[in-house]
Amino acid sequence: MTIIKPTYTYIDNQFYENQAVAFDTTIQAIDCYENLIVQYPDAKTIKGGDNSVLYPGFINSHVHLEFSANKTTLQYGDFMPWLDSVIANREDLINACDNATMEQATQEMLHSGVTTFGAISSFGAELEVCAKTPQKVVFFNELIGSNAAYADALYGDFLARLDASKSIGNGVVAGIAIHSPYSVHPVLLKRAVTIAQNEKLPLSAHFMESPAEREWLEHESGEFLSFFQKYFNTSTPVTTIPEFIESFDNVATHFTHAVQASDAELDYLSMKNHSIAHCPRSNRLLGCGRLPIEKLIEKGIPFSIATDGLSSNHSLNIFDELRAALMLHYLGPLAPLAQMLIKGVTSVPAKALGVNSGEIAVGKAADFALVSLPHTPNSLEDIALQTILHTQHVDQVIIDGKSE
Ligand code: BEZ
Ligand code: FE2
Repeated sequence: MTIIKPTYTYIDNQFYENQAVAFDTTIQAIDCYENLIVQYPDAKTIKGGDNSVLYPGFINSHVHLEFSANKTTLQYGDFMPWLDSVIANREDLINACDNATMEQATQEMLHSGVTTFGAISSFGAELEVCAKTPQKVVFFNELIGSNAAYADALYGDFLARLDASKSIGNGVVAGIAIHSPYSVHPVLLKRAVTIAQNEKLPLSAHFMESPAEREWLEHESGEFLSFFQKYFNTSTPVTTIPEFIESFDNVATHFTHAVQASDAELDYLSMKNHSIAHCPRSNRLLGCGRLPIEKLIEKGIPFSIATDGLSSNHSLNIFDELRAALMLHYLGPLAPLAQMLIKGVTSVPAKALGVNSGEIAVGKAADFALVSLPHTPNSLEDIALQTILHTQHVDQVIIDGKSE
């Protein structure tokens, strides 16, 4: 047994003083240190420094490790030029992305306190790195393919990757990711959702990321028209927005982006208990717009904060993402926004990814991120804000009770 004794502890979305936590691989008890050491006299004690804050380990719900080699190659500013640049540089970027590059990406997350991440995997190339990394990983095998002629081959490849991720173990659990409404044939989509439903696997899908995506699916026009004419010799989308969202009716899904979703679509997501992964820096860099989180709050749609991959970001440090979100969403009061953002990297993604962490509560995994504020905060209500502003790297990361 170990007892960790910070200055402040984040419990049930609030901050408390004098609350220590006893744990082995899971959290056993939460109480003041004096009571815990009587209850567990042989426990080892970890004492946080001055102004230390104990959080549950952070969860980055959406990252693409396979594109970690990109730094200055891809074209930012607008979605379609970016997508064209991905296609043009795909081979080079994938070849340049060796295990060492991906390990560096997982380490960057770890140093910012990320103890679990959702890896969106196109080819399965990062599976070995995910099994080796100290973090827990929900390995989202991505399904792609709008052209019916290639559907069976692509589906077979998807199933093989899914199987490999189910059997590798070492903290990796399998999930399913649907690439997007425009790139997945509805027949494939239904098969994959059925697997997620039957096997209770976490499910994720990019959805309504760019204005071009909306225009293509709604009006069969815009920049995606020339894209599909050029690469797929077609002028017709494979699905409509309503058909796409209704395919997920029976499985609570973590939809990524939703920046361009209409009020009616957001209402539908809310009604079906879906949630949203919000990637503010990716949205900014690809010219996709600002997700109106005030509408999500009003409609009661839970949202996580995630980095997306280095193909649309300049770092995987979760605090860089939280700071960006804090600056982007200038409407509304600041301290409550900061508290909501902390929920977006703890309890919200834990539920969306189906993992037993993201909260300091008895029975949850002993996954922690210990940070230190530079000085004593003015009030307990300010701790989330000050943590986001001042943290670059965490002091300690603990995963399943083990210091990393
Ligand atoms: C497709 O396979 O249909 C596809 C892939 C990437 C972008 C758009 C479509
Ligand atoms: Fe993504």
